Amino acid sequence: MSELHRFIIARNWMKSNEDFLTTWHAHVGYKLDLFKCLEKSKSVEQVAKECELNIALLERWVEVGIEVGHLKKGLAGKVKAKKKMVKYASADSPESVGILLREMMELHIPTLLKYPELLKTNERLTYLEDSFADIVAQTSTLLEKAAVPPILRWIKKEKPTSIIDLGCGYGGYLNSIHTKFPKIELHGVEINTELAAKANENLGKDVTISEGDMMEYIKNFQGKVDMVMAHNFLYYFPEDKRMDLFRNISNVMKKDGIVTFISPMMKAKYGQSFTSAFNAFMTAHENLYSLPTLDEIKENGKRVGLTLKDAKPLIKEGGWYLVTMKKMK
Ligand SMILES: C[S@@+](CC[C@H](N)C(=O)[O-])C[C@H]1O[C@@H](n2cnc3c(N)ncnc32)[C@H](O)[C@@H]1O
Repeated sequence: MSELHRFIIARNWMKSNEDFLTTWHAHVGYKLDLFKCLEKSKSVEQVAKECELNIALLERWVEVGIEVGHLKKGLAGKVKAKKKMVKYASADSPESVGILLREMMELHIPTLLKYPELLKTNERLTYLEDSFADIVAQTSTLLEKAAVPPILRWIKKEKPTSIIDLGCGYGGYLNSIHTKFPKIELHGVEINTELAAKANENLGKDVTISEGDMMEYIKNFQGKVDMVMAHNFLYYFPEDKRMDLFRNISNVMKKDGIVTFISPMMKAKYGQSFTSAFNAFMTAHENLYSLPTLDEIKENGKRVGLTLKDAKPLIKEGGWYLVTMKKMK
């Protein structure tokens, strides 16, 4: 009986890992742009030749792809990518979400695999910001679909005349705001050289993008700004430095100004399996820090005169929240 029980438990673990194959397969296909290559029916030999790939390994990838439903068999032994894979997992498709696969498979999973070793030491990994800045900024833009509409509603309601976006990445939020409200004075600051250059390129001369550290940059705007955006970077600040960040944010805001925070949130109502794993990833690095809780944001804000106005989930499954605070005096 106990042998049968072991067998069933082992089989269930195997079964629950099947989903991982789908992610692995999609990641390989995205990284080498194989779904695009297989938009039209081709033989494995043809693809191997065109893309200079090892044919034996490619055959195995194709077999998995057929099993997980990413590829289908064509005539005369040829194979073709399903339309959804060309659309969502090709590099140049406007609907591509492949960058998320890269973040998961190249950044998160390798870190989580190191957990057993890390747990036995006091050592931490170093997050290589420059190597991953582009991937992380791109995945952050996937949130914009959910986050831009409520932010535009806040702008319509509060009517700010000037906005600063801290850690603006590619400047996607600024771009959406500029399109809808061209008269608002917009500024962005980004520490990564390449991202700052791309944001500048994307936004043109109407929006000022500066390369630099937000903590220094923000000092140029004491009491002059109606709205601050602080999206997806709180975990770059150690808990004991976040108070300084909140103080700096409050200092640049005019009375009645607002600040929007976006972050996955610990201890929130939604998305805790995702946020707890994300938090495990953060803690594995010496230069990344815990995700905030709503109470922490509320408390830090209160200490510098910011009052919570709203906290809404943007993506429930991921525990991502949009938190809005107002400067009351
Ligand atoms: C995860 S990305 C988010 C980008 C954008 N805010 C968004 O939500 O789409 C965080 C960005 O903050 C930038 N960043 C981190 N620390 C910074 C600092 N001290 N000053 C300026 N930018 C910073 C990073 O380079 C990165 O591009």
